[in-house]
Amino acid sequence: MERASLFFIQRSSPLEMNQKGSWTRMSSIKIAILGFGTVGQGVYKTIETHQKELESVLGKKVEVAAVLIKNKEKDRGIHPGVLVTDKFEEIIDLNQLDVVVEAIVGNEPAYTYLQRAIQRGCHVITANKEMFASYGTDLKELAAQHDVSIGFEATVAGGVPVIQTIQQLLNINRIKKIEGILNGTSNYILSEMRAKGESFSAALTAAQEKGYAEADPTNDVEGFDAFYKLMILSEIAFGGKPDWERVPREGITAITREQIEKAEKLGLRFKLIASIQLINGEIVGSVRPTLVSKSHPLYHIEGVENSVSIEADIVGRITLQGPGAGMLPTASAVIEDLIHAVLKTGVPGNSFRMQQQTPEDSQVKEKQNWLILNPDDLDHFPLSLSSSAELEGSCLIQADENTVHSLRQENRNASFFEVLGEFMLEERQLVKL
Ligand SMILES: NC(=O)c1ccc[n+]([C@@H]2O[C@H](COP(=O)([O-])OP(=O)(O)OC[C@H]3O[C@@H](n4cnc5c(N)ncnc54)[C@H](OP(=O)(O)O)[C@@H]3O)[C@@H](O)[C@H]2O)c1
Repeated sequence: MERASLFFIQRSSPLEMNQKGSWTRMSSIKIAILGFGTVGQGVYKTIETHQKELESVLGKKVEVAAVLIKNKEKDRGIHPGVLVTDKFEEIIDLNQLDVVVEAIVGNEPAYTYLQRAIQRGCHVITANKEMFASYGTDLKELAAQHDVSIGFEATVAGGVPVIQTIQQLLNINRIKKIEGILNGTSNYILSEMRAKGESFSAALTAAQEKGYAEADPTNDVEGFDAFYKLMILSEIAFGGKPDWERVPREGITAITREQIEKAEKLGLRFKLIASIQLINGEIVGSVRPTLVSKSHPLYHIEGVENSVSIEADIVGRITLQGPGAGMLPTASAVIEDLIHAVLKTGVPGNSFRMQQQTPEDSQVKEKQNWLILNPDDLDHFPLSLSSSAELEGSCLIQADENTVHSLRQENRNASFFEVLGEFMLEERQLVKL
């Protein structure tokens, strides 16, 4: 009895004074969570554990009104007052529904559900990067038409507030380039291979045992996950996305223990780097294993951490680092979006401040440093390699992307890796092309 009354006090809305000066129950914000896996559960729990903080910031209670799942048989531990259903119609037809949080997997039915929610006038928040990379532009437009806000902080780098930071910077700065470690699973595998001298497959197994990698790790280790996130960043930073087909996307499955050891002797570390920038007015991006020297901020990012380094014209370089996934870090990003939506400090629809391109933004791309690894074929390599022995049978060149592309065609057994950060070599060791 005592427990029941205590529970009643916690669940009932506090009193607030209305405009006529009389006390009424404080209205609440009703939300639906679509999907109750890692992210959905994290959002549900955070709303429960941080109700007081939410109430004090928003001046209203936040109530989870409904949860959408696929399998009705699973026990979810959800409060009996919450509608738990596998039918989206039951949710969209609720009497009051203010915010819809989407945390399911894949393009459909997530895209359709969010369209329906926006059309009903709900604010929407998504963690679904694959869907948002494909349909984010359309959803932003639709949200603008219906004057609701759309939150997607959780789609990129989990708990790290990358989207809000870029939005904030774009008030005045022009973004030049973004480089990031956007996939924690790949970063964990590369870190384990380096620190413990493990093979790719041994490190992948360790990642799976620790719950950092799915049973089917393709999305993570082949660079798809980082690619989706990069496309989302591209749109907010540069107001558009490059042609997906023209973005080189390479994963980490071909990286060997020997290559990692060789790089380490040169003071370099392998990272799966997603990068996007404006070059001569064109948005150019890539996702690929890259070598990073100690002077670069991404060198020290190890394990499942994510990091995003943003270069802008006024501020210079800013680097954010933190948990790129996980139940509570991702819920933190969703709840931040919830607060922005309710307080109307969020971004309604497509009114994101997009960067307008100017001639000054269009950088003429400089040549980059590339390390070419493949000792077996070095004798046949069409470069002057008198200094190659000092680089342990590898070769450093300074060349632009096009030159490297043609060299790759002619030397299919060699591996080419861009080197980020300062990498000092004596002049005679560097072949300039
Ligand atoms: N996990 C992370 O740390 C993380 C971080 C950032 C972003 N994300 C993104 O957030 C989304 C959710 O990730 P997650 O890790 O929480 O996934 P998850 O653990 O696999 O959970 C997915 C949930 O969605 C439900 N679901 C799937 N298809 C559905 C459908 N057609 N109708 C209704 N419910 C459906 C599942 O229902 P059942 O429970 O009935 O199977 C499950 O509850 C993904 O898009 C992911 O990329 C995840």
